[in-house]
Amino acid sequence: MTLTDSHCHLDDKQFDVDREAVIERALAAGVRTMLAIGTGDGPPDLECAVRLAEEHACIYATVGVHPHNAAAAASEIFERLRELARHPKVVAIGEIGLDYHYDFSPRPVQRAAFEKQLALAAEAELPVSIHTREAWADTLDVLRAHPLRAGGVFHCFTGGASEAEQALELGFHLSFGGIITFPKADAVREAAALTPLHRLLVETDAPYLAPVPHRGKRNEPAFITGIARRLALAKGASEEEIAGVTTKNFERLCLRRAQDSL
Ligand code: NI
Repeated sequence: MTLTDSHCHLDDKQFDVDREAVIERALAAGVRTMLAIGTGDGPPDLECAVRLAEEHACIYATVGVHPHNAAAAASEIFERLRELARHPKVVAIGEIGLDYHYDFSPRPVQRAAFEKQLALAAEAELPVSIHTREAWADTLDVLRAHPLRAGGVFHCFTGGASEAEQALELGFHLSFGGIITFPKADAVREAAALTPLHRLLVETDAPYLAPVPHRGKRNEPAFITGIARRLALAKGASEEEIAGVTTKNFERLCLRRAQDSL
């Protein structure tokens, strides 16, 4: 069985003590590819995931400014992102979007950073990884106004059926994480059930949001197996089928350019 963790924060300090062992455990669990998210602690460092991708064949990287850090992104940061988007192992821009739960950056500043990075992704013909929290209507408004050329994914999808339908209508993929294993997450499982197989991705969002039975502990990419198993149940598919199709979807969405250049 071959799995792909389409969203993890391998740069996180929680992995400083045993990062190589975490990667080894993922490979042993059947995770062939991991997408390291490059938003890290925010600007000026934009390359926390690129560094990991340069060291490991199984790791690809994103670059981007998280909505939390939007206020720290001066205009030269976006110039640097444009350059990094050409790096052979950078396969998406993200995670980008709007977060009205924490409001760490003022909303108009979040929106401006989101819009700039959508334009940058379109220009680079890269897909985007979307973070949205308590900002569903505004996120959709911005996405509708900024057509992409290589699509994207709603990472750690937490919406229900109607949000899923709206995201799918815009052409997006939906990525499901540990939340799908939580007892109270029936709405999320309903969203997964109506998502066509060819639009599904799986992710851990490690070190956050560990699936049951690891809930509340540090998450790691090897735990993707539990997420794939629960998603398979929601879809009425086998775990092998989910592993295969989500890997193929990831390759189609994110690795087209990387594979062309090999
Ligand atoms: Ni994340």
